[in-house]
Amino acid sequence: MNNFQELVKKNRSYRRFWQEVAISKKKLEELVDCARLVASGRNIQPLKYYLSYTPEMNAKIFPHLKWAGHLKNWAGPEEGERPSAYIVVLLDRQIAENAYIDHGIAMQTLLLAAVESGLGGCMIASINKEKLRTLLAIEENRYDILAVVALGKPKEIVRLVDMQGDEYKYWRNEKDEHFVPKRLLKDIII
Ligand SMILES: Cc1cc2nc3c(=O)[nH]c(=O)nc-3n(C[C@H](O)[C@H](O)[C@H](O)COP(=O)(O)O)c2cc1C
Repeated sequence: MNNFQELVKKNRSYRRFWQEVAISKKKLEELVDCARLVASGRNIQPLKYYLSYTPEMNAKIFPHLKWAGHLKNWAGPEEGERPSAYIVVLLDRQIAENAYIDHGIAMQTLLLAAVESGLGGCMIASINKEKLRTLLAIEENRYDILAVVALGKPKEIVRLVDMQGDEYKYWRNEKDEHFVPKRLLKDIII
Protein backbone atom coordinates (compact mmCIF):
# COMPACT_ATOMS: atom_id res chain seq x y z
CA MET A 1 0.00 0.00 0.00
CA ASN A 2 1.46 3.37 -0.93
CA ASN A 3 1.68 6.43 1.28
CA PHE A 4 -1.31 8.14 -0.25
CA GLN A 5 -3.57 5.10 0.27
CA GLU A 6 -2.32 4.91 3.86
CA LEU A 7 -3.24 8.55 4.39
CA VAL A 8 -6.70 8.05 2.89
CA LYS A 9 -7.26 4.99 5.11
CA LYS A 10 -6.11 6.86 8.18
CA ASN A 11 -8.38 9.79 7.37
CA ARG A 12 -11.49 8.44 9.04
CA SER A 13 -14.36 10.36 10.63
CA TYR A 14 -13.11 10.71 14.20
CA ARG A 15 -15.58 11.78 16.85
CA ARG A 16 -13.70 11.32 20.14
CA PHE A 17 -10.57 13.30 20.89
CA TRP A 18 -7.95 14.19 23.48
CA GLN A 19 -9.77 17.43 24.20
CA GLU A 20 -6.90 18.81 26.28
CA VAL A 21 -4.63 18.84 23.21
CA ALA A 22 -5.14 22.34 21.86
CA ILE A 23 -5.08 23.26 18.19
CA SER A 24 -3.71 26.73 17.47
CA LYS A 25 -5.15 29.37 15.22
CA LYS A 26 -1.93 29.07 13.19
CA LYS A 27 -2.50 25.34 12.64
CA LEU A 28 -6.07 25.99 11.46
CA GLU A 29 -4.78 28.68 9.11
CA GLU A 30 -2.28 26.17 7.70
CA LEU A 31 -5.13 23.75 6.99
CA VAL A 32 -7.26 26.42 5.33
CA ASP A 33 -4.23 27.49 3.32
CA CYS A 34 -4.24 23.97 1.78
CA ALA A 35 -7.99 24.10 1.10
CA ARG A 36 -7.45 27.50 -0.55
CA LEU A 37 -5.53 25.83 -3.38
CA VAL A 38 -8.03 23.15 -4.45
CA ALA A 39 -10.37 22.89 -7.41
CA SER A 40 -13.39 25.17 -7.54
CA GLY A 41 -16.25 25.21 -10.05
CA ARG A 42 -15.55 28.05 -12.51
CA ASN A 43 -12.61 28.80 -10.18
CA ILE A 44 -14.90 31.27 -8.46
CA GLN A 45 -13.81 30.22 -4.92
CA PRO A 46 -16.89 31.23 -2.96
CA LEU A 47 -15.93 29.57 0.33
CA LYS A 48 -15.03 31.43 3.52
CA TYR A 49 -14.09 29.98 6.91
CA TYR A 50 -14.76 30.73 10.55
CA LEU A 51 -12.12 29.34 12.92
CA SER A 52 -12.80 28.29 16.51
CA TYR A 53 -9.89 27.16 18.70
CA THR A 54 -10.61 28.37 22.24
CA PRO A 55 -12.25 26.08 24.80
CA GLU A 56 -14.87 28.78 25.43
CA MET A 57 -15.99 29.11 21.80
CA ASN A 58 -15.69 25.37 21.19
CA ALA A 59 -18.05 24.74 24.09
CA LYS A 60 -20.60 27.12 22.59
CA ILE A 61 -20.44 25.52 19.13
CA PHE A 62 -20.67 21.91 20.31
CA PRO A 63 -24.41 21.82 21.22
CA HIS A 64 -25.38 22.86 17.70
CA LEU A 65 -23.85 19.79 16.04
CA LYS A 66 -25.30 16.29 15.69
CA TRP A 67 -23.04 13.29 15.91
CA ALA A 68 -23.10 9.78 14.41
CA GLY A 69 -26.78 9.39 13.58
CA HIS A 70 -26.48 5.60 13.24
CA LEU A 71 -25.28 5.20 16.84
CA LYS A 72 -28.67 5.47 18.48
CA ASN A 73 -27.37 5.10 22.04
CA TRP A 74 -24.63 7.67 21.73
CA ALA A 75 -25.35 11.40 21.95
CA GLY A 76 -21.89 12.47 20.82
CA PRO A 77 -18.55 12.92 22.54
CA GLU A 78 -18.58 13.56 26.26
CA GLU A 79 -16.89 16.52 27.91
CA GLY A 80 -13.16 15.69 27.87
CA GLU A 81 -13.41 13.92 24.49
CA ARG A 82 -14.74 16.79 22.43
CA PRO A 83 -13.06 18.56 19.50
CA SER A 84 -10.30 21.08 20.19
CA ALA A 85 -11.21 23.16 17.16
CA TYR A 86 -13.83 23.73 14.51
CA ILE A 87 -13.71 25.13 11.02
CA VAL A 88 -17.10 26.42 9.90
CA VAL A 89 -17.38 26.37 6.11
CA LEU A 90 -19.40 29.22 4.65
CA LEU A 91 -20.65 30.16 1.20
CA ASP A 92 -20.12 33.85 0.51
CA ARG A 93 -23.18 34.71 -1.58
CA GLN A 94 -21.59 38.00 -2.60
CA ILE A 95 -19.27 35.80 -4.68
CA ALA A 96 -21.65 33.06 -5.88
CA GLU A 97 -25.15 31.78 -5.19
CA ASN A 98 -24.04 28.12 -5.19
CA ALA A 99 -20.97 26.29 -3.93
CA TYR A 100 -21.62 23.20 -6.11
CA ILE A 101 -19.23 20.57 -4.68
CA ASP A 102 -16.51 22.98 -3.62
CA HIS A 103 -17.07 22.49 0.09
CA GLY A 104 -16.71 18.70 -0.19
CA ILE A 105 -13.37 19.09 -1.91
CA ALA A 106 -12.28 21.71 0.60
CA MET A 107 -13.31 19.68 3.66
CA GLN A 108 -11.60 16.52 2.44
CA THR A 109 -8.45 18.55 1.88
CA LEU A 110 -8.69 20.10 5.36
CA LEU A 111 -9.04 16.64 6.88
CA LEU A 112 -6.23 15.06 4.88
CA ALA A 113 -3.95 17.92 5.91
CA ALA A 114 -5.06 17.47 9.52
CA VAL A 115 -4.35 13.72 9.47
CA GLU A 116 -0.97 14.35 7.89
CA SER A 117 -0.08 16.42 10.95
CA GLY A 118 -1.30 13.91 13.54
CA LEU A 119 -4.80 15.31 13.98
CA GLY A 120 -8.14 14.11 12.66
CA GLY A 121 -11.77 15.10 12.53
CA CYS A 122 -15.20 14.79 11.11
CA MET A 123 -17.27 16.62 8.54
CA ILE A 124 -20.58 17.62 10.04
CA ALA A 125 -23.57 18.64 7.95
CA SER A 126 -26.19 17.97 10.59
CA ILE A 127 -26.11 21.36 12.23
CA ASN A 128 -28.58 23.66 13.89
CA LYS A 129 -27.65 26.36 11.41
CA GLU A 130 -29.86 29.10 12.82
CA LYS A 131 -28.44 28.74 16.32
CA LEU A 132 -24.89 28.54 14.99
CA ARG A 133 -25.43 31.61 12.85
CA THR A 134 -26.67 33.61 15.82
CA LEU A 135 -23.84 32.39 18.05
CA LEU A 136 -21.13 33.32 15.56
CA ALA A 137 -22.90 36.51 14.40
CA ILE A 138 -22.68 35.36 10.80
CA GLU A 139 -24.29 37.90 8.48
CA GLU A 140 -27.52 36.40 7.16
CA ASN A 141 -27.69 38.42 3.98
CA ARG A 142 -24.20 37.38 2.95
CA TYR A 143 -23.17 33.90 4.17
CA ASP A 144 -24.71 30.42 4.17
CA ILE A 145 -23.40 27.91 6.66
CA LEU A 146 -22.56 24.84 4.57
CA ALA A 147 -20.87 22.51 7.06
CA VAL A 148 -18.53 22.27 10.02
CA VAL A 149 -15.27 20.36 10.27
CA ALA A 150 -14.62 19.23 13.85
CA LEU A 151 -10.95 18.67 14.66
CA GLY A 152 -8.83 17.22 17.43
CA LYS A 153 -6.27 14.61 18.30
CA PRO A 154 -8.18 11.34 17.75
CA LYS A 155 -8.73 9.16 20.79
CA GLU A 156 -10.69 6.38 19.15
CA ILE A 157 -9.93 3.36 17.01
CA VAL A 158 -11.77 3.37 13.70
CA ARG A 159 -11.60 0.26 11.52
CA LEU A 160 -12.65 -0.13 7.90
CA VAL A 161 -14.40 -3.41 7.05
CA ASP A 162 -15.83 -4.86 3.86
CA MET A 163 -19.53 -4.16 3.53
CA GLN A 164 -21.77 -7.20 3.91
CA GLY A 165 -24.70 -6.96 1.51
CA ASP A 166 -26.07 -3.45 1.70
CA GLU A 167 -25.40 -2.91 5.40
CA TYR A 168 -23.92 0.58 5.32
CA LYS A 169 -24.43 1.57 8.95
CA TYR A 170 -21.32 1.95 11.07
CA TRP A 171 -21.24 0.43 14.56
CA ARG A 172 -19.12 0.06 17.68
CA ASN A 173 -18.09 -3.13 19.41
CA GLU A 174 -17.95 -3.84 23.16
CA LYS A 175 -14.49 -2.23 23.31
CA ASP A 176 -15.96 0.92 21.78
CA GLU A 177 -13.97 0.51 18.59
CA HIS A 178 -15.76 2.09 15.65
CA PHE A 179 -16.31 0.00 12.48
CA VAL A 180 -17.07 1.52 9.10
CA PRO A 181 -18.25 -0.77 6.27
CA LYS A 182 -17.10 0.13 2.78
CA ARG A 183 -18.42 -1.27 -0.49
CA LEU A 184 -16.00 -3.52 -2.38
CA LEU A 185 -14.22 -2.35 -5.51
CA LYS A 186 -15.95 -5.03 -7.60
CA ASP A 187 -19.33 -3.69 -6.48
CA ILE A 188 -18.75 -0.06 -7.41
CA ILE A 189 -17.29 -0.32 -10.90
CA ILE A 190 -20.11 -0.90 -13.37
C1 LIG B 1 -21.49 15.31 3.55
C2 LIG B 1 -21.20 14.62 4.86
C3 LIG B 1 -21.91 15.00 5.98
C4 LIG B 1 -21.66 14.38 7.21
N1 LIG B 1 -22.34 14.79 8.32
C5 LIG B 1 -22.07 14.22 9.51
C6 LIG B 1 -22.74 14.67 10.68
O1 LIG B 1 -23.56 15.58 10.64
N2 LIG B 1 -22.43 14.08 11.86
C7 LIG B 1 -21.50 13.07 11.94
O2 LIG B 1 -21.25 12.57 13.06
N3 LIG B 1 -20.85 12.61 10.84
C8 LIG B 1 -21.12 13.17 9.63
N4 LIG B 1 -20.46 12.73 8.51
C9 LIG B 1 -19.46 11.65 8.60
C10 LIG B 1 -20.00 10.33 8.02
O3 LIG B 1 -20.88 9.76 8.95
C11 LIG B 1 -18.79 9.40 7.73
O4 LIG B 1 -18.09 9.93 6.64
C12 LIG B 1 -19.22 7.97 7.46
O5 LIG B 1 -19.77 7.39 8.62
C13 LIG B 1 -18.07 7.10 6.98
O6 LIG B 1 -17.02 7.11 7.91
P1 LIG B 1 -15.57 7.51 7.40
O7 LIG B 1 -15.59 9.01 7.12
O8 LIG B 1 -14.64 7.16 8.51
O9 LIG B 1 -15.31 6.76 6.15
C14 LIG B 1 -20.68 13.34 7.30
C15 LIG B 1 -19.95 13.00 6.15
C16 LIG B 1 -20.20 13.64 4.95
C17 LIG B 1 -19.38 13.26 3.74
